[in-house]
Amino acid sequence: MQTRDWTTEATAIAARAHEWVDRLRNKPFINNNGMALDTAFYLYYWVSELAPQMIVESGTWRGFSTWAMREAAPDAKIVSLDPIFALGYCLDATKIGTGYWPADLERMGTDFSCCGFEFMVKPKPSLVLFDDHQNKIHRLQQAIQKGFQHIIFDDNLPGEATHLTFFHYLRDPSIKAWMEQVIERFEIFPPLWDTQAGMRNEIFVPGLNIPRDPALACLDTTGQARSGYSWLTYVKVKDSAFAAHHHNAAAS
Ligand SMILES: C[S@@+](CC[C@H](N)C(=O)[O-])C[C@H]1O[C@@H](n2cnc3c(N)ncnc32)[C@H](O)[C@@H]1O
Repeated sequence: MQTRDWTTEATAIAARAHEWVDRLRNKPFINNNGMALDTAFYLYYWVSELAPQMIVESGTWRGFSTWAMREAAPDAKIVSLDPIFALGYCLDATKIGTGYWPADLERMGTDFSCCGFEFMVKPKPSLVLFDDHQNKIHRLQQAIQKGFQHIIFDDNLPGEATHLTFFHYLRDPSIKAWMEQVIERFEIFPPLWDTQAGMRNEIFVPGLNIPRDPALACLDTTGQARSGYSWLTYVKVKDSAFAAHHHNAAAS
């Protein structure tokens, strides 16, 4: 599983961070219980790089990540999945607050595992974002089975988490061997600056330490009781794993 040398990109990342802060002037709302501004920047950076034509987002909440991805890939078709879209009528809208749910967004309350994406011809590249706090290995298996080669996972915490993350699974030799067999790239976006992070800010994470600039202050979430840094992770599935699966699916 290859990763990348982020230090060589620090200057480009700093430039994109300024661009992101400019875009934040038009953010649809101040997010709560969802992606913080720093992690949403890492998502924005990656989506800009991947330029997907289709995005499936599992775990939408009020749609801040949806907005970030739309800013990065304005022409991509976006499908947003969250049980709140099925249950919304019995939730208190005044507690949920404003959402970014534009009319061209397809929103469903169905779980990703039950959606029929495997039967859909998807434009290339297509991307899935999982920010749904479900155990990660199952989401990886499901994404491969449904024909997605590019996957971003939020909340891939190394320590205590609300769900099992890749850090947990990689301790199991047989799961690690399977991951090495199917994953080409496994990249964790580093924080812009050194930070504490985790459920109780219990983990030190070394950052890129790009030059400090007051204009970027809103991306420094270190001072919060729980920082916004959440180990956003990009996984590219190997062609072989992807093709083998789809050959078998077609044959069966
Ligand atoms: C951390 S929030 C998502 C934050 C959002 N991406 C943002 O940027 O603000 C997690 C969301 O996952 C949703 N969720 C829980 N189980 C889910 C499932 N099985 N599939 C999709 N979403 C799920 C919750 O309803 C919640 O809205």
